[in-house]
Amino acid sequence: MVNFKNILFFWALATVFTGCKNENINQIVKSPNGEVEIIFFLTEDGTPTYNVDFKGNPIINKSKMGFELQDQPDMMNGWTIATIDENSVDEQWKMPWGEKCLVTNSYNELVVGLKEVKKPHRLLNITFKVYDSGLGFRYEFPEQSNMDKVFITEENTEFNLTDDHKTFWIPGDWDIYEYLYNTTSISGIDVSKCKNGIKLPQTHIVDNSVNTPVTMITDEGVHLSFHEANLTDYSGMTLKVNTVDLSLKSCLVGSENRDYKVEQTVPFVTPWRTLQISDNAAGLIESDLIVNLNEPNKLGNISWFKPMKYIGIWWDMHLGTKTWDYASSVNSKIGSIKGSSHGATTEYTKELIDFASEHNIGGVLVEGWNTGWEHWIGFDDREGIFDFVTPYPDYDIKELARYANEKGVEIIMHHETSSAIQTYITQLDTAFSLMQSLGMHSVKTGHVGPILPKGEYHHGQYMVNHFQNVLEIAAKYEIAINAHEPIKPTGKRRTYPNAISREGVRGQENNAWAADGGNPPEHLPIVAFTRMLAGPIDFTPGIFNIKLEPYRKENQVNTTLCKQLALYVVINSPIQMAADLIESYKGHPAFKFIDDVAVNWEQTKVLNAEVGEFVTIARQQRGSENWFVGSITNEKARDMDINLDFLTEGKIYNAIIYKDAKDAHWDNNPTAYEIEEMEVTNATVLPIHLVEGGGFAISIIDTLELQ
Ligand code: NOJ
Ligand code: CA
Repeated sequence: MVNFKNILFFWALATVFTGCKNENINQIVKSPNGEVEIIFFLTEDGTPTYNVDFKGNPIINKSKMGFELQDQPDMMNGWTIATIDENSVDEQWKMPWGEKCLVTNSYNELVVGLKEVKKPHRLLNITFKVYDSGLGFRYEFPEQSNMDKVFITEENTEFNLTDDHKTFWIPGDWDIYEYLYNTTSISGIDVSKCKNGIKLPQTHIVDNSVNTPVTMITDEGVHLSFHEANLTDYSGMTLKVNTVDLSLKSCLVGSENRDYKVEQTVPFVTPWRTLQISDNAAGLIESDLIVNLNEPNKLGNISWFKPMKYIGIWWDMHLGTKTWDYASSVNSKIGSIKGSSHGATTEYTKELIDFASEHNIGGVLVEGWNTGWEHWIGFDDREGIFDFVTPYPDYDIKELARYANEKGVEIIMHHETSSAIQTYITQLDTAFSLMQSLGMHSVKTGHVGPILPKGEYHHGQYMVNHFQNVLEIAAKYEIAINAHEPIKPTGKRRTYPNAISREGVRGQENNAWAADGGNPPEHLPIVAFTRMLAGPIDFTPGIFNIKLEPYRKENQVNTTLCKQLALYVVINSPIQMAADLIESYKGHPAFKFIDDVAVNWEQTKVLNAEVGEFVTIARQQRGSENWFVGSITNEKARDMDINLDFLTEGKIYNAIIYKDAKDAHWDNNPTAYEIEEMEVTNATVLPIHLVEGGGFAISIIDTLELQ
């Protein structure tokens, strides 16, 4: 900071003596440990420009910043620096639920106030926050007499890379993130050749662009991940790839209904443009950059939401053994088994409630309980179909709420909006009132199909505002949201902790029916370092009937059974589904792990990791000495030593290790496993073998808690 202050001092002098001739003076701000450094300056023509160094080496080359506006001159150049402010923060805040209890928020900040040299002398501020694990910057359009409304046709934030890094990416689709990841160099990114075997129910890709988080590894082993934080009243950002210059540039999601991408009233701020930087893969997962760049909790105490495991009437429909609709198998797009019947019946729901209450499972999700499913997918005219309050005749919603309550279980509501957004908005209060009256505190929402009103996209400003609106209204009814086909997470769970989890990834369901063979073994070892950096995932792990026999002969889950167990620890989410049919769990020895595993954590440690290859995570149960460890690998077998030195010294724990049998294999022999039980301490080192597409899970229970 000493250097920084000197720079400020000389800048002030320069301003006094030369009357704002400050273009060539670098404004520098460093992370608290000094390793990440941003250099901001104006070019000759007054273009805001920045570059980033990590440990003294360039990591982002000189990159421009600015906007194109409708009916107004661009805001690209012609600026002068009017003010400079600096600030340092070092504080801690508490997560109401999540991967850790206490979060450290420690950064140095630089706020550059820009003023146009020529008329109309508009103002624009750029704020940089630099953390040890990366940085964020955002634009602020401050209150000013010459600008009231703005219509942004494009944001031009550049990220010029220093080399042709190895990159893990999905295409910059404006409508869905449910893609398999591609691994190429930057110059090799070609979205027209991306992996995506199935025809998605909605998709819109413009340009050669990628969605965020997009993660890279440099030749020197520096790990980078680009994303955004606090996406509020703005459009989602994709990144346009220039495969020749090796650069990325923001490309906002648009709408067919307007010529601009964002409409805003001054004053306002944009989302943070974020870059995580780490020496190693583990550092990406351990960083709190994204949540730290969001505002503190606005909802106060949300103890009405309890992190939980849940089961559901769900996999049945994806396997095709049951239907969402009541009448018949009309809606047989996914379910096509002969004789399949309505899933959401009072009787079947009670069976699940009983199972949940016997197994430490807090929730039961019921899909297909409300009328309208006969007209679900494939219909253009979707407005007015679902009403979210009218059950089918074989589903006694009140009796089930009573029964669940008696058994200490909560029914999880399901609202498939089918992307008919106006219908959902007009129904929200009625739907949430019903939930409140029945004591339900969480809902899974779905957004399958192109957005109605036509011309809007899932990731544009219209839907960003819709998802926000739903969160705020839900909070009034003490309801938490798990959104499917959502806008990507950008850390808003800090501000609105009723944003508990979401999809926004190619989830387990694809393994049941995707024509491309489902998610390959490398999928989750990539997801952990891409999508998961953005926030909790409702991936729905725990399939034990890996080969889906006898239901889906053409499909299977491409992991071992133990890898499914490991996902309860590896994937971050305060709600974790035990997704398989309960018939797969009854009497199964490995189900004990799902029964035991926690969903809310005191702390998280990444024990070893390599993007796309493997990752091992240990998490300590919140308010307890118990720990759980999960490890997953891609299609490669590996051996690792798991050092339990994170355990409390002097304590004795009972460990149960669920590991792949020696002859297990994700394809040839996925359900072969071994269970080993032993006493462990913080001096224990466990040698464990992971087979191809395999994994392991360990529960480590404080022996005092067993008494
Ligand atoms: C898509 C969701 O991702 C899936 O989980 C759900 O079952 C269907 N929509 C129906 O709402
Ligand atoms: Ca989905």
